[in-house]
Amino acid sequence: MAETPLTELDLCGSCTACSLSETRTRVVVSRGSASAPLMLIGEAPGAREDATGQPFVGRSGQALDRLLVEAGFDLETDVYICNAVKCRPPGNRRPKRVELAACRPWLDLQLQQVNPAAVVLAGATSVEAILGIKGGMTQLRGRWQRWQDRAVMPIFHPSYLLRNPSPDEGAPIDLTRRDLSSVRQHLCER
Ligand code: URA
Ligand code: SF4
Repeated sequence: MAETPLTELDLCGSCTACSLSETRTRVVVSRGSASAPLMLIGEAPGAREDATGQPFVGRSGQALDRLLVEAGFDLETDVYICNAVKCRPPGNRRPKRVELAACRPWLDLQLQQVNPAAVVLAGATSVEAILGIKGGMTQLRGRWQRWQDRAVMPIFHPSYLLRNPSPDEGAPIDLTRRDLSSVRQHLCER
């Protein structure tokens, strides 16, 4: 098989632009398809992601995958999954503003390369990093935003869903199902 040429994004794997590089095990860049119509942006890698180099592979990642599949997405072809910062913050603390800023060029490269038709922002950190809006996810989720000429949908972070597992109508899991269906529908109607 012919070797794929190195891209600028491959350099992310050896980035030392912020101090998270001193404590990480692996840089966690992405999983899924680089030609996917949907890009999902989370917060930062956790322990399992740091160990494997893959985003969203721990408990919240499994919950996320189930919801995406339920909404009709094929995880191999339809979704590109990444995070606002690519290296694990020690003890899973929230990434600092300087770290989000240092890592932003990588995210911009990912957006340029994947060029998704829609972007899902999982959790408040991702919303703040991309849209610059600070607010409660209860208000922000489920409402389409326009950003850089793209359709952007904020959703609850999957770890929040693990802490709020009620299956009831109107509970966070149900609302997230609705949000992901709305994203799916938006992409099908293009
Ligand atoms: N939480 C995130 O925001 N991203 C991951 O990759 C894993 C957990
Ligand atoms: Fe580089 Fe981002 Fe990792 Fe910081 S978090 S070292 S900016 S890849």
